[in-house]
Amino acid sequence: MPETERKFDLVVLGGGSGGYACALRASQLGLSVALVEEDKVGGTCLHRGCIPTKALLHAGEVADAVRHSAAYGINSTLDSVDLAGVNSYKDDVVRRLYKGLQGLIKSRGITVVEGRGTLVSPDTVEVQGTPYQGNHVVLASGSYTKSLPDLAIDGERVLSSWEAMQLEQLPRHAIVLGGGVIGVEFASAWRSLGAEVTIIEALPRLVASEDAACSKALERAFRKRGIGVLANTSFRSVEKTEAGVRVSVTSGDTYDGDLLLVAVGRGPNTADLGYEAQAIEMDRGFVVTNNRLEASVPGVHAVGDIVAGMQLAHRGFQHGIFVAEDIAGLRPTPINEDGIPRVTYSDPEVASVGLSDERARQRHGDDAVESVTYDLGGNGKSQILRTQGFVKVVRHRDGPVLGIHLAGARVGELIGEAQLIYNWEAFPEDVASLVHMHPTQTEALGEAHLALAGKPLHAHS
Ligand code: NAI
Repeated sequence: MPETERKFDLVVLGGGSGGYACALRASQLGLSVALVEEDKVGGTCLHRGCIPTKALLHAGEVADAVRHSAAYGINSTLDSVDLAGVNSYKDDVVRRLYKGLQGLIKSRGITVVEGRGTLVSPDTVEVQGTPYQGNHVVLASGSYTKSLPDLAIDGERVLSSWEAMQLEQLPRHAIVLGGGVIGVEFASAWRSLGAEVTIIEALPRLVASEDAACSKALERAFRKRGIGVLANTSFRSVEKTEAGVRVSVTSGDTYDGDLLLVAVGRGPNTADLGYEAQAIEMDRGFVVTNNRLEASVPGVHAVGDIVAGMQLAHRGFQHGIFVAEDIAGLRPTPINEDGIPRVTYSDPEVASVGLSDERARQRHGDDAVESVTYDLGGNGKSQILRTQGFVKVVRHRDGPVLGIHLAGARVGELIGEAQLIYNWEAFPEDVASLVHMHPTQTEALGEAHLALAGKPLHAHS
């Protein structure tokens, strides 16, 4: 490519959710874009995270449906789980989406540069010795699996989520270190597929960033499913045994399993990429940005997991779109991170948007906050699905909804409505006057808002 053609309006370093969304939106707005990717466009989410794990979880749901079919009057027996078959279903989903994404990127006229990019000046990314210059540079290099000091991931018995999703044989007993999102999702999928699972979590509860009620419901459901939950338990060491691993915790107890999944968080992938050398301000590995996602060096922006906050693919998409529009001069409104919905796709699911009860009370004061919990026991569709759980809505006493928290099968799909309620700053009274289709689980959202508006329907007052 001649030098004149290596000048772009925008050079994006990293083709994951944040980077490719930025490239797509920028090209739509008429900007010329180079997208630098050393592996595959789609990044962690498409190839190693969101998509393949949700396919694993769905395969687990199918296994559970067969296993428990007699409860619905359908007699069947689960013969076996063919993990090779599960993997080929999962890989096929990823392959199709990858193909679609590649086609989309090509159709938008984006120049994809394959190779590892390094920031060599504030406006230039170098890939294998070739410079690509941009009027703006967007850093979107994503995240990596963290571990603990003295805990080496060997990929065989001590695994990251990447190796865990490629297993050729189902573990008999998996030990999961970390009861955050990744730990909980793998524990759920493996249990559904037939493994024994024990979760070790240092904090007092699973998915500790969620409302305490959601953690409690999840933990209760997990125990019922036979998943061992060791909360308030810190990891000390792991040794390899003939059969697998022996994990010691700080109390001195040990747990034997055939593998250990390390799920203690993900770190920003920002080392050795030239960021610090270009004097970009960093904080514990994250790129420091203002609320317009501009880094400390003019012309440089950052999106996704390298910006401190929730590490979620859809946050990355939103960051990417925001930066593209800002560069194009559309002056979009800065993103309210509290309004980004969260879903943990375990069985049962946990989903939320806005503030937890606790955070709402910290921010607005105890007297100003009110909440209602509507039990899915009163919701027809949830009873048909035989799921337990709730919708919890937190409101400002004289104002809008401050947070919505859900637990139960399929509630992840309800967060679409919940996020509109939160982000449009609706009052419960506004939602109470809207009609929810019967019988659906969305009715439970409607019921919780009716109750908060002082007119509960299917609820004991
Ligand atoms: P996480 O931060 O959600 O959870 C890590 C857990 O490990 C924490 O609960 C922590 O207390 C625990 N832990 C840390 N050190 C420990 C120790 N020494 N002993 C016992 N427990 C210890 O991180 P996770 O689950 O690895 O996920 C990484 C990122 O990926 C998250 O930011 C998450 O948002 C994202 N992700 C999102 C998904 C979704 O939205 N459904 C799915 C999977 C990942």
